[in-house]
Amino acid sequence: MEKLIDRLSALVAQAFESAGYDQSFGRVSVSNRPDLCQYQCNGALAAAKQYHKAPQSIAQDVAARLADDPAFEAVQTAAPGFLNLTLRDSYLMDYLSAMRENPRLGLPTTENPRTIVLDYGGPNVAKPLHVGHLRSAIIGESVKRICRYFGDRVVGDVHLGDWGLQMGLIIAELHERRPDLPFFYSSLTGEYPAEAPFTISELEEIYPAASAKAKEDPAFAAKAHDATFQLQSGHSGYRALWEKIMQVSLADLKRNYEKLNVSFDVWFGESDAQPFIEPMLAGFRERGLTRQSDGAEVMDVAEEGDAKEVPPCILVKSDGATLYATTDLATLVERERDFRPDKVFYIVDKRQSLHFEQVFRAARKAGIVRPETELQFLGFGTMNGKDGKPFKTREGGVMRLELLIAEVTDYVLQKIAESGIVDAADQRATAEKIALAALKYGDLSNLATKDYIFDLDRFSAFEGNTGPYLLYTIVRIKSILAKYEGDLSAAQLQPPNSASERNLALCLTRLQDNLLPAYTGSAPHLICAYCYELAGCANAFYHETRILAEQDSAKQAGYLALIDLTRAALELCIDLLGFEAPDKM
Ligand code: ARG
Repeated sequence: MEKLIDRLSALVAQAFESAGYDQSFGRVSVSNRPDLCQYQCNGALAAAKQYHKAPQSIAQDVAARLADDPAFEAVQTAAPGFLNLTLRDSYLMDYLSAMRENPRLGLPTTENPRTIVLDYGGPNVAKPLHVGHLRSAIIGESVKRICRYFGDRVVGDVHLGDWGLQMGLIIAELHERRPDLPFFYSSLTGEYPAEAPFTISELEEIYPAASAKAKEDPAFAAKAHDATFQLQSGHSGYRALWEKIMQVSLADLKRNYEKLNVSFDVWFGESDAQPFIEPMLAGFRERGLTRQSDGAEVMDVAEEGDAKEVPPCILVKSDGATLYATTDLATLVERERDFRPDKVFYIVDKRQSLHFEQVFRAARKAGIVRPETELQFLGFGTMNGKDGKPFKTREGGVMRLELLIAEVTDYVLQKIAESGIVDAADQRATAEKIALAALKYGDLSNLATKDYIFDLDRFSAFEGNTGPYLLYTIVRIKSILAKYEGDLSAAQLQPPNSASERNLALCLTRLQDNLLPAYTGSAPHLICAYCYELAGCANAFYHETRILAEQDSAKQAGYLALIDLTRAALELCIDLLGFEAPDKM
């Protein structure tokens, strides 16, 4: 459906034209004086300069042309030359009825669907998922849903960190603890054990222990480096052990992401890109794209006009090891082969922005991606604690995501248990939904690039600009709908009876005005801002209107139709944000 504001602009543009002015002056905007009118057009002020005429008289010419238009209840001019527009209620409700009949609530799909590889999540295998990975998962999931809703083909790739030193550390530590494991036999007849020799909790204890040891014990650090190198060179026992680490770790990661309502289409990792590295580097060398620098092999990526120095991209270290950037370039080779994406979109901590700048430049310079392929880095800020420093546990350690979710869930559970509205058997499931809304909305309502402060009390409040408040609004609407005895699908929208009802209707017409920029700008926070406004209008209407007690059945059906459309819009929004409403709360 065309945006209401575009429809109105077309009408006003026509009026400008028929009054003898250029139609480009007819652009309409939402009124910044809602006490005076709903929409306004400031075109007469600009036209005055071109036509050397008083703006007020141009506005009057145009207003006269609009006087009989069925769209407008009132078209007034105001000094020095504004056009103040108020819609006729029937016109407003016709627009909403069309939205209500449309399965997409009138939202379009893109004319140029693109294939987008979305790189988010980015957990490191064998290291516990911590809150640093939370933002990538939350923002990425929402961006994925938004792009898909508007028609893009999105491949969500978790891009596991599964090939680095952490693997060598674990292998070295296991070797010290249990040298008898078959994975360490120098020659093995038969197969490696099918069972992993550790559980996820053991694995999660082994990694930090090994990492701490490596910091103090240079011999152990050397051993871990050597194990990493052996693994990467194809040592069969280490490779088999690596597979076990992957198996145990992946099961845990999948469980965690499921709890977050986050999913991926492919579970590729850094290890999958390794086979592409050698041929890629050989090609670079052949074309003279790299040079030696202090024993390392680098590619220059500085460009004329760089405001800040962009250092060369290091591809191979002096000891022969390849780096994070090498892997990211090889991953682009792999993605080009697998998906031929129109866009590769990375949702990663903004502290990695230089890395991605270097990788993007190298990829373009070497022609790994086609010139028309868009490479975008969305760098997000840090989630801080109330002390303004990166969020930690009470003991000051790295907060595990699982524990954070549990903490928020318990907090919410206590609240709903106290209120007694939800049956005991449903309380936990309800608390999980509310907790997710609190966490995700608390994150997504901020501009992604900004840091924000995690505040459990504020995020989980049922009132104010929070996820639970949105859920509460939806639940309230659903409970009225459930009590309605008439036939909801036959209910027709009616012209509004009050200012609050009209405001709600007007806010609903602006769904598209808010969701489209969220799509084009990959900006979930715009959806949050809109939802909050819509929920506010819905609650104001609810408080002022006796909906279920209304005696006039047509009027009542109109109320129901309106709140049902509100529910649909809110549920669409929260689905795009990645959470859902419970039945009661
Ligand atoms: N595993 C990385 C980290 O924890 C994030 C990966 C981001 N994606 C990428 N293609 N580099 O920092």
